[in-house]
Amino acid sequence: MKPVLGIESSCDETAAAILDERGAVLAEALLSQREHAAFGGVVPEIAARAHLAHLPGLVTDVLQQAGLRVGDLGGIAATTGPGLIGGLIVGSGLGKGIALASGLPFVAVNHLEAHALTARLTDGLDFPYLLLLVSGGHCQCVAVEAVGRYRRLGGTIDDAVGEAFDKVGKLLGLPWPGGPALERLATGGDPARYPFPRPLKGRPGCDFSFSGLKTAVAQVVATFPPGALPAQAAADIAASFQQAVADVMVDRAAHALAMLPGVPLVAAGGVAANTKLRATLDQVATAHGVRLVAPPLRLCGDNAVMVAWAGIERLRLGLTDPLATAPRPRWPLQEMTG
Ligand code: KG4
Ligand code: ZN
Repeated sequence: MKPVLGIESSCDETAAAILDERGAVLAEALLSQREHAAFGGVVPEIAARAHLAHLPGLVTDVLQQAGLRVGDLGGIAATTGPGLIGGLIVGSGLGKGIALASGLPFVAVNHLEAHALTARLTDGLDFPYLLLLVSGGHCQCVAVEAVGRYRRLGGTIDDAVGEAFDKVGKLLGLPWPGGPALERLATGGDPARYPFPRPLKGRPGCDFSFSGLKTAVAQVVATFPPGALPAQAAADIAASFQQAVADVMVDRAAHALAMLPGVPLVAAGGVAANTKLRATLDQVATAHGVRLVAPPLRLCGDNAVMVAWAGIERLRLGLTDPLATAPRPRWPLQEMTG
């Protein structure tokens, strides 16, 4: 098989990458849109326009970096859902346009499947494995059985875990996105200072809930005069919040590992970049006699390498999609086929 171009534009990362058939990265380019920081969250219309402005240039860049022309490629893979519709239209539209002009096969990539299959690219993992998908928009526990075959074991009943990090970051006055900044702040804090709730801990299954935890943090912040949260208290709140999330994750992961014993545990999505969470998940995996596989940090958040890889996995199985495939803002993994 010839190299595959991947395109990602489902949220606020604009990215393109080219991988060869074995998964070696021949070229990659990623632009994290900073223009949303002033609004404290992703503004869909601004995101779509930024994708439109930058994506064609990034695709040209990666082709140049790889020393390839479109005709040297074996296929075009573009994220087609789930995500913000404007960005999806831009990225999948560009991918389809290139496929149409060149006659190359097109793969409509599910962004969640791209996160889910990254561990096979980085660690050559065999099926099945257990996936903890933890990002800004998603928080679920999935049995990954094959390309296109996913069984949902549990998920959040309110906020995604990354969303909780971002909202607590906002409460603490941290720059957006809150996750990485909160992790840095927490290093100087006392994780035992505030006994925040551990929602659903000890309950059967592996569902998640974070809105109560976020409210508990808001209540503590509200005990300080507005705008006068002492630096040490902020660090202690950050550390205590992160500890509560880690405790919940461990409990939920342990339940999932009991539901699917003996298979590796994979952490994926932006929140999997969190060192504390990685360390605690590593402990729970070890305690269950399995290994934790977490992608390198640059492949945890949204990127096009994972999209090109998902394309390669599908093309290897002869799976392609018609150019008429419509972008899907909502596209649960369980609705995939392989
Ligand atoms: O996978 P991703 O890039 O985009 C989505 O598909 O949502 O994940 C972004 C999320 C954001 O909520 C961000 O705050 C969070 O991942 N995040 C972190 C860390 N790095 C990114 N959360 C906690 N700790 C981190 N180090
Ligand atoms: Zn993502």
